[in-house]
Amino acid sequence: QSRRTRLIAGNWKMNNGIGEAAVLASRLGELVGTAPEGVEVLVCPPTIDLSVVADKIEGTDIRLGAQNCYWEKSGAYTGETAPGMIRGVGALYCIIGHSERREYFGETDADEMRKARALIDAGITPVFCCGESESVRESGSQVAFVCDQIKAGLAGIELARADQLVVAYEPIWAIGTGKTATAADAQEVCGAIRKTLAELFGEQIAEGVRVLYGGSAKPGNIAEFLAERDVDGALVGGASLVAEDFAAMVARA
Ligand code: G3P
Repeated sequence: QSRRTRLIAGNWKMNNGIGEAAVLASRLGELVGTAPEGVEVLVCPPTIDLSVVADKIEGTDIRLGAQNCYWEKSGAYTGETAPGMIRGVGALYCIIGHSERREYFGETDADEMRKARALIDAGITPVFCCGESESVRESGSQVAFVCDQIKAGLAGIELARADQLVVAYEPIWAIGTGKTATAADAQEVCGAIRKTLAELFGEQIAEGVRVLYGGSAKPGNIAEFLAERDVDGALVGGASLVAEDFAAMVARA
């Protein structure tokens, strides 16, 4: 079990319009508005819901995050959202590099690096996602694959600011499929991620960075993952849409 503050983060993905978002956020405020000691609770709604969720969780311990951003500060980038705008609604975190963005929107590690830098500049903690496909896992090269993603996506972060990162290991074959990695699978890769962070930024920073597991995490399996030395929390998709399930995960953290 790690000594770092746990982070239980909900990624709502493209779910919940403004009315549903308000209801879910209020319910979460009732259930996990006071976070257990040593646990940080984060919700990442769609961009359009950020404001209403910010209002509903005001005064609670729940933190707000976005799911994506662009790296420029402003300008002619139709449809995009700048880190400063995200910070302006009260978000302190932003997911980047999710496998869905890489797969459906063609994002690359170079894009993620730009986003990570722009977010840190705006005072937001990037939650950098990485993870291998099923074919990479079957070939047994998941550790090398994920460590390469970390190097390609994060090597350009200045040393002095690298302590502001969070990494989420999400094996693609476990996302939304009901198939979970075993706790040992998660530890193998999360441990390797931490070693790679140590190579890039030094031991001390690597020891402080939170590394989360994501992929069909739910109330019934979260404790196993969190019992591993290098797993500091979870990035939760489906189960974060049900307030009671998400609250149960926080309670087990
Ligand atoms: O970012 C969270 C995610 O991709 C995992 O989704 O639905 O398998 O928990 P899910």
